[in-house]
Amino acid sequence: MRVIAIANQKGGCGKTTTSINLSACLHFLQKRVLLVDLDPQGHSTCGLGIKILKGAPTVYELLSPVQAIPSSFGQVIRSLYPDFDLMPCNASLNALEEECNFMPNHHLLLKDLFLRLEADRRKYDFIVLDCPPNLGILTWNALNAADEVIIPVEPSFFALHGLGKISETIQVVNRSRQTPLGVHALLTNFNSQLSFSQEIHDEVRAHFKDQLFRTIIHEDVMLKETAAAGQSIAQYAPGSPAFQDYLNLAVEYLEREWDRKLPARELGWESVYKQHYGPKPMADGILFQFSNKTASSVEIAGDFNHWVPEALVRRSDDGLWQKVIHVDLKSFRYKFIVDGEWQVDPSQPLRKENAYGGVDSYVELA
Ligand SMILES: Nc1ncnc2c1ncn2[C@@H]1O[C@H](COP(=O)(O)OP(=O)(O)O)[C@@H](O)[C@H]1O
Ligand SMILES: [Mg+2]
Repeated sequence: MRVIAIANQKGGCGKTTTSINLSACLHFLQKRVLLVDLDPQGHSTCGLGIKILKGAPTVYELLSPVQAIPSSFGQVIRSLYPDFDLMPCNASLNALEEECNFMPNHHLLLKDLFLRLEADRRKYDFIVLDCPPNLGILTWNALNAADEVIIPVEPSFFALHGLGKISETIQVVNRSRQTPLGVHALLTNFNSQLSFSQEIHDEVRAHFKDQLFRTIIHEDVMLKETAAAGQSIAQYAPGSPAFQDYLNLAVEYLEREWDRKLPARELGWESVYKQHYGPKPMADGILFQFSNKTASSVEIAGDFNHWVPEALVRRSDDGLWQKVIHVDLKSFRYKFIVDGEWQVDPSQPLRKENAYGGVDSYVELA
């Protein structure tokens, strides 16, 4: 189980949008996820369509040291989907700072809570913490409870000014930690049409070096619409460019996890590939993915498109090719065409012999 804080003291840089949609895309990739709303503005809570009735317990009741009758994890948690839960909050969380200002370990409340909730916490692969837009007690709690932090950066000159401050805060937090926080940075709300965007991209890369995700989250009005609709992008518009961006982020994040945990030679690249890239059923079709850094074109043909090749789109520098295709069939055969060469999908173990003496990749939907 890994805890990921999404933090940056600057408001409006995409913390909540990233918390909701990275969580949703990790869940889409079959991970068990808990999203914790740690911003008293409650944007992750309402952005996922959750309303808190008067008096209903929230994160505040779990964290506050002055609660006479402690609330249980089960009372606070809201299940959004099987294996995707939210720990909501509202403005009551504002009181925490004042209540525990003079407590010696007020920066470890969340870490202690997770230790107390050991059994509940183990139900998840990832816990994502949406932080408020300041470096106050809630962000300190998040950074101390987290294994790693993702710093969303939107391309503006003001955003660059704040990077030193958050990096310095992380250094201070690390002084009292046994293992340093893993740090990732993410460019969000990126508009490649703007002349200064590339300049800012270069500066952010110079600051964070390989901590900066290769995936960029582009500016897309759909991400505003999803929040207003109380849904994640995976639910609201699967197959949209904004969904692809956040799915790419989830995929790149998981790749970094694998790199950290298990060197490729131990795990076997092949098994990573199978676990990760096989065809994925989505609300309005099937996501096909293929990884190849050097190919200049990847297409797919199968029973669903009468074997007329359709192009996959290259999504990232590391050669992740993707395409969502509407499929009405319960089972189907398909193949990829890589620079004109027909080949089976290496991530799909099922194969069937075809009438021409070769084999096709084969899928049977449940
Ligand atoms: N990639 C994006 N494209 C378009 N709008 C975005 C994008 N990311 C965030 N926004 C919008 O920008 C505003 C601030 O984003 P938000 O995630 O709430 O930031 P934070 O949590 O850091 O304050 C919101 O209205 C959100 O919908
Ligand atoms: Mg926010």
